[in-house]
Amino acid sequence: MAERNPQLGFAIRKTLFIWFAMAIILVVASMLYLGSTGRPHIIDRNLLPSEKALSVYETGDSYFRNMTQLQSLTICNPDNAILKLYMYDLPPEFHFGLLDWKPDRDSVWPDLRRKIPNYPGGLNLQHSIEYWLTLDLLSSTDPARRSPCTAVRVTDPGQADLIFVPFFSSLSYNRYSKVIPLEKISQNKKLQQNLVKYVTSREEYKRSNGRDHVILAHHPNSMLDARSVLFPCVFVLSDFGRYNPNVANLEKDIIAPYKHLAKTYVNDSAGFDDRPTLLYFRGAIYRKEGGNIRQELYYLLRNEKEVEFAFGSIQANGINKASQGMHGSKFCLNIAGDTPSSNRLFDAIVSHCVPVIISDDIELPFEDVLDYSEFCIFVRAADATKEGYLMGLLKGIGKERWSAMWERLKEVDKYFEYRYPSESDDAVQMIWKALARKVPAIRLKVNRLRRYQRFGRALRESGGDGKFPVIDGF
Ligand SMILES: *[C@@H]1O[C@H](CO)[C@@H](O)[C@H](O)[C@H]1NC(C)=O
Ligand SMILES: *[C@@H]1O[C@H](CO)[C@@H](O)[C@H](O)[C@H]1NC(C)=O
Repeated sequence: MAERNPQLGFAIRKTLFIWFAMAIILVVASMLYLGSTGRPHIIDRNLLPSEKALSVYETGDSYFRNMTQLQSLTICNPDNAILKLYMYDLPPEFHFGLLDWKPDRDSVWPDLRRKIPNYPGGLNLQHSIEYWLTLDLLSSTDPARRSPCTAVRVTDPGQADLIFVPFFSSLSYNRYSKVIPLEKISQNKKLQQNLVKYVTSREEYKRSNGRDHVILAHHPNSMLDARSVLFPCVFVLSDFGRYNPNVANLEKDIIAPYKHLAKTYVNDSAGFDDRPTLLYFRGAIYRKEGGNIRQELYYLLRNEKEVEFAFGSIQANGINKASQGMHGSKFCLNIAGDTPSSNRLFDAIVSHCVPVIISDDIELPFEDVLDYSEFCIFVRAADATKEGYLMGLLKGIGKERWSAMWERLKEVDKYFEYRYPSESDDAVQMIWKALARKVPAIRLKVNRLRRYQRFGRALRESGGDGKFPVIDGF
């Protein structure tokens, strides 16, 4: 037919060509759109103009879905976030103001695209989770963000899984615990009092009696005053050493890693034979409560040739020297100090020095998804202080078993990295995931609370005793 009627054939080919060109233009245009917003964009099938163009669109669409898969690995896609958090706009004095950041006019939060306020270095850093988590949440709604997100900030508390309380409590404890002359109480205490007032007066708090609120209290002495009031909240802690089990426990709270001070051993090729020291022991020998075991172990091990002792903190001896010590050792000792946990464990992990943990009450981050026995040795305090027990145990671990633990350390060290912008499965995103795993249990508690809440509220409003009904036990 085309031969007999060339004009008609030309018209058909022209129409097809135009359709094809339009489709290509549309695909290219949407790619540009994708690039300009940084958001993966899925084509709505209802928007397809006609059946005829479908085949071309199909190609484009599947390309898009692949692009979407690819991009969702590298950028923040709120639809893929597994945790939605509402964050109180607390005044800056509770967070970045403690870092001497001065707000522009009425803003509560720094503009992260311009300048990121610095967190003080040194030992303060080990409890800096408050800083990394808040930065991550703030940036989760920035369209220019170029890293994946596990948690996303929402503006409607009704949409949120959890309510995030952005108080930099560890920094407040570290920097503002002293009572300055003419003041009755320290700035740290005052901030906690004001925080309690602020939080408990919020509708969101009353609705759940605080059970869906996330409070960061990584330094064991932070939130010392407020914790007794805010105990129904989810705490993010370093351990439970200084907590009453009614205030904090593994069921409702989560453990977050310390920020390690030693540098991560990148491209570590120092295997079994390259680490001449069997056991590296760093830290003070004499400690307060619970630290007696250090002295006992010191007297047991001080004459062992394959044990290296480094006294004092990582600060005093220099981080590089401590790193050298750990890089040259097969095992690194972690003994309970005045608290069950310490950042030394995380220094050992990122140095790929197999941790030997002697701390019966230690709780470990993400242990519901991580099997620490794959890369740590646990020894009960009662066993460790038996003559010859520890050295016998460690000498009995041969090259093959040790190397398997070392390989595992090189895989897991990423879970303990705090950074901004955060990356997949680093400490920031692991904490969000750990919180997300708490959400169903929290929902159950909150829904149970609501059984009587409406009645309680009506009673209060009609001049009842004003007591908020509390269902205890979770
Ligand atoms: C994505 O690309 C792969 C090949 O790279 C292909 O096999 C797969 O079918 C594509 N996915 C979709 C949803 O089209
Ligand atoms: C680690 O190895 C990779 C690949 O060999 C290299 O690109 C990188 O610079 C190394 N990093 C360090 C800190 O040595």
